[in-house]
Amino acid sequence: MRITEPVAARHQITAVQMRVLRAGGPVLRFDAPILDDGRLSPVQVVTNLFGTQERVAAGLGLTLDQIPNLGDFLAGLRAPSPVEGMRDALSRWPVLKAALRTHAKVLRKAPVQQVVSETPDLTSLPVQTCWPGDVGPLMTWPVVLTRPHGTIAADVARYNAGVYRAQVLGRDRVILRWLAHRGGAAHHRSWARLNQPMPVAVVLGADPATLLSAALPLPETVSELAFSGVLRGARTELVLARTVPLLVPAHAEMVLEGWVSPSETAPEGPFGDHTGYYNAVEPFPVMQVTAVTHRREPLYLSTSTGRPPDEPSVIGEVFNDLALPVIRQQIPEVRDLWLPPAACSYRIAVVSIDKRYPGQARRVMMALWGMLPQFSYTKLVIVVDADIDPRNWDDIAWALATRMDPFRDVLTIDRTPMDYLDFASPIEGLAGKMGIDATTKIGSETGRDWGQVMAMSPEADSFAEALLARIGSAA
Ligand SMILES: Cc1cc2nc3c(=O)[nH]c(=O)nc-3n(C[C@H](O)[C@H](O)[C@H](O)COP(=O)(O)O)c2cc1C
Repeated sequence: MRITEPVAARHQITAVQMRVLRAGGPVLRFDAPILDDGRLSPVQVVTNLFGTQERVAAGLGLTLDQIPNLGDFLAGLRAPSPVEGMRDALSRWPVLKAALRTHAKVLRKAPVQQVVSETPDLTSLPVQTCWPGDVGPLMTWPVVLTRPHGTIAADVARYNAGVYRAQVLGRDRVILRWLAHRGGAAHHRSWARLNQPMPVAVVLGADPATLLSAALPLPETVSELAFSGVLRGARTELVLARTVPLLVPAHAEMVLEGWVSPSETAPEGPFGDHTGYYNAVEPFPVMQVTAVTHRREPLYLSTSTGRPPDEPSVIGEVFNDLALPVIRQQIPEVRDLWLPPAACSYRIAVVSIDKRYPGQARRVMMALWGMLPQFSYTKLVIVVDADIDPRNWDDIAWALATRMDPFRDVLTIDRTPMDYLDFASPIEGLAGKMGIDATTKIGSETGRDWGQVMAMSPEADSFAEALLARIGSAA
């Protein structure tokens, strides 16, 4: 939906997007963004690109019901002995096989370099200041490209692409907030150890396949740029950056090129985050921007993060279903798993299992916490039986109310990893975890006769359905 009326990059774009996102509304294009100094921005803003699950699936080149197939393929990539899993997944995705093998194509001329400025001024871009307590303008959808020390620009398979927000410090400086366990942070450490600056490219307005590949928790052995080719169904096209030794997406709207110092940091934030709170101010590395390249009439892609639902939490819901086959591969008794978006998409997990032996729910909790990095910060795991829908709070409440004893069935552990964004944990970076076993207790788990779940006989139920239909009842 095009919005031709002037809308300020400060707060107003966020306010409009949040309302539209909550209503399941369209992608928004702001034709007349107003800059902080009151001028009209020559660059237009696009937000809410992935505001619905259907659009996230479309960005992956799929419909929503095809998401499990892609999940199977991802599980195949992760398998410890990939042969069987891969063969099986690839037999259903022959096109993907070809795409993963294909090298990126390097162009000599590219749309993203139609305009090149080596005296950049980031303050002239319509970068949003999203929330009233934000310290200033924040780039919210940057795809940050890095490569480790000891590689060359052509080693695209070694590149990392991650979405890490970027605070604008002035005309040619930004702070990159990669959390310590991210790929970008690991690459930065490899350059910093040798006291060398790291070349970085920040891609603004990449194509959907690149954006979603960068946001996906892919196995470290899979290059996001190669994987974006899989999703796109076409080779990734890149072009050599003008001022740094990196290849960048040829068809992006805009790229910031520059260097991150091995040691310089600046206080980042506060900014409103996906938790619904402002972050604490923390030091993060500074990027010196050496050039900005862009299309002739670039669009600036942006979003806002806040208390869910926000755009990342909508993306998270689709990624939840993509991750299921990977989880089942490691813990086969898992039937379904839900990360409620309202709980910041990762802090609570509800998992249903086919329970067969005593103690199994506790084993599943520990397996989840230990298995995949995305569960390291899941504070609460609730385990339910296969007859409970883990995506339905009424079902969960019934299981908790009837199958769980607070003294026997709650497991707590202390001093486990936690992100610095969680101020409820007593020590920064270390927090407790809780597991609640809301499954039916079997064998040695209980000395009592367990209750029997009630259900109407199918005959009586069919009779009732037919009777009510005959007399025209809405029931
Ligand atoms: C809109 C959006 C903003 C994000 N902001 C950050 C951020 O500021 N810092 C961060 O570490 N991760 C952030 N993430 C999450 C990472 O991009 C995501 O976990 C990605 O898989 C990390 O890639 P990596 O494993 O290659 O480091 C954001 C994700 C999205 C979709």
